[in-house]
Amino acid sequence: MKINRELSIPVLLLTRQPDIWASGQQARRLSRRGSQEMIHPLARICNAGAWRACCPQPAVFPQRALRRCWSLLLQVCSRRAYLVAGLVMLALVTGWTGTVQAGIASTKHNLSVDGLGTVKSIDETEICVFCHTPHRAIKNDNIPLWNHNLSTAGNYGVYTSPTFDGAATIQDLGGTDATTAAVSNLCLSCHDGTVAINALNNPSNANLSGNPTMGGTNADGTLPDGTAMLGTDLTDDHPVNFIYDSALFAVDNSLNDPATLTGVILFNGTVQCASCHDPHNSENPAFLRISNTGSALCLRCHNK
Ligand code: HEC
Ligand code: HEC
Ligand code: HEC
Ligand code: HEC
Repeated sequence: MKINRELSIPVLLLTRQPDIWASGQQARRLSRRGSQEMIHPLARICNAGAWRACCPQPAVFPQRALRRCWSLLLQVCSRRAYLVAGLVMLALVTGWTGTVQAGIASTKHNLSVDGLGTVKSIDETEICVFCHTPHRAIKNDNIPLWNHNLSTAGNYGVYTSPTFDGAATIQDLGGTDATTAAVSNLCLSCHDGTVAINALNNPSNANLSGNPTMGGTNADGTLPDGTAMLGTDLTDDHPVNFIYDSALFAVDNSLNDPATLTGVILFNGTVQCASCHDPHNSENPAFLRISNTGSALCLRCHNK
């Protein structure tokens, strides 16, 4: 949910200059023809009584008269305008309008024709298909019904430092295949920049082109350079694919007990990309599971 989109509605209503709207005679003609577009939106929201009370000519809104009674009208109408704007906001928040929804549809991971980002399809209307399929999935017991072709990168490297306590169990995410992929390999199937975004195991039956046709990608279909393109070197990234259990907790006294974590999740007891990120929800920036204001996300696991 982008808050500025809602806020822009009352701002738009109350600040639009009257000059762009129909002048007296035009407005009269337009309203006789039942044409409403050129009639000031504030005028449409306020009832005729309010207009009559403030303006010399009810029903039509000549440019000059509108200017004269502008401030008076604002007082009478603003409460009503705010009420309408409030209802519009509520409608957007609760998804009444059917066009704006919470969840993945309003994130950059909506890669369908309705996607919000620059990377999106020009002919695929399904959202989940870029990552999941109900049938013929790339399947092992660690990943959910996966549909995006996995990367064949042989070696991502692992994080290392003299104080890193997960070194004993951390495993390179490179060299995996359909039978061994971990949750982080799912993210890397797009974010290491080696596999085309439209490379699906089982394209949707509804799309006659088979694999979706994309816009916004590199010529070879891969994720363009930018902060979202992590590349195939994970040695400079927060460690993933290692076990975070009571043994690690016992060794590292600045971690929180993994049995009591909230907000973040472990996959089979391991830290993965999706421990911190929820790929379906960008209520927090960067798909974070919880807001990182005040480093709250970090402090769910680290007791610093
Ligand atoms: C950009 C990729 C992507 C898209 C698009 C996507 N998912 Fe996922 N989904 C994932 C990944 C990665 C996981 C594993 C990590 C996790 O569980 O958060 C996952 C896990 C899941 C899970 C199992 C975990 C859970 O939260 O219950 C379900 C169910 C699911 N997705 C449903 C959906 C549905 C339904 C859609 C479409 C509305 C969708 N996903 C779209 C990437 C995606
Ligand atoms: C099917 C391909 C695909 C998969 C799988 C995928 N992503 Fe993405 N992701 C994208 C695309 C495309 C973008 C938008 C890139 C851009 O706009 O430059 C993106 C953007 C992001 C962003 C940046 C969001 C922002 O607001 O700028 C994050 C964070 C992210 N993805 C994390 C993940 C994580 C974590 C996973 C796995 C749990 C994942 N992604 C799986 C394709 C994918
Ligand atoms: C320990 C938590 C954590 C893990 C694990 C993690 N990330 Fe992130 N990620 C973050 C945070 C926090 C941000 C936001 C950084 C910022 O706002 O500056 C982020 C940002 C991103 C971005 C946006 C680009 C950027 O640099 O801001 C992408 C893409 C991304 N992560 C993908 C991944 C992938 C793929 C993995 C697994 C290989 C992963 N993340 C693992 C915490 C994590
Ligand atoms: C899901 C739990 C989790 C979250 C969330 C998390 N971490 Fe970690 N992080 C770990 C674990 C477990 C380790 C390995 C234990 C260790 O050596 O500290 C680790 C390792 C590290 C290390 C390496 C320590 C070393 O000795 O080299 C740093 C630094 C770090 N995390 C910083 C962060 C920051 C900053 C954030 C927030 C952006 C964050 N972590 C979020 C679980 C998490």
